[in-house]
Amino acid sequence: MKKRMLFIAGNWKMNKTSSEAEKFLVDLKSKLAPFCGKLNLAVCPAFTALETSTRILHGSNIGVGSQDISAKDSGAFTGEVSAKMLLDIGVRYAIVGHSERRQYHAESDAYVNSKAKKALSSGLIPIVCIGETLQEREAGKTSNVITTQVKGSLAGLTDDEMLKTVIAYEPVWAIGTGKTATPAQAQEVHALIRKLLTEAYGEAVAEKVIIQYGGSVKADNSQELMSQKDIDGALVGGASLEVEGFYNLVANAIK
Ligand code: 13P
Repeated sequence: MKKRMLFIAGNWKMNKTSSEAEKFLVDLKSKLAPFCGKLNLAVCPAFTALETSTRILHGSNIGVGSQDISAKDSGAFTGEVSAKMLLDIGVRYAIVGHSERRQYHAESDAYVNSKAKKALSSGLIPIVCIGETLQEREAGKTSNVITTQVKGSLAGLTDDEMLKTVIAYEPVWAIGTGKTATPAQAQEVHALIRKLLTEAYGEAVAEKVIIQYGGSVKADNSQELMSQKDIDGALVGGASLEVEGFYNLVANAIK
């Protein structure tokens, strides 16, 4: 039996219009209803589908997250969406520092940290993403990269804030490639992350923090990944876009 309740979230990335989300979530909601109370679930649609999603999922066991958040409160920041705007439409989580934002929008650890802090101070739960590239792994730099990202992205969080924060370890080389980290490879990095949290916050806090794995998680590997000691859930891309596949992934994860 796991000490921590599993948390599985779907990151839809730039997929599904608002009307597609509506149809999809009506199905997903009834399909996942039997899992109520057994694990935490969320979907993270694009900004345009968030309001529809919170409306459809209201009162269900599936929460809604955004894929990003502004580090600012309000003002002249064209294209940005604030925590207050997200909370106002019932959003609960915000992914910050996804590798696609780090890569295509040059988001640094310091910037990710400011977004995580803004989410927390506003009442949203940040899902803070970290992960090494293939080049970094092959150069034997995984531990250094993860340590730098954990320290930078989570800098200055209080114990209470750390307890609310979700971390997602997503090796960049496993995202959308079909190349999943082996359960042992993933567990090794998850254990390192928990060790870093223990050093910074003590065991009582570190043992409660949810650390998700992300990168080609599917129905046929979710059980083995989730059975690892320090893997507490998944951040799922491609396999969260289809009701049957996501249902099977979740069902296997809690076996
Ligand atoms: P895939 O599951 O498509 O590999 O994507 C993982 C991911 O980036 C989730 O945030």
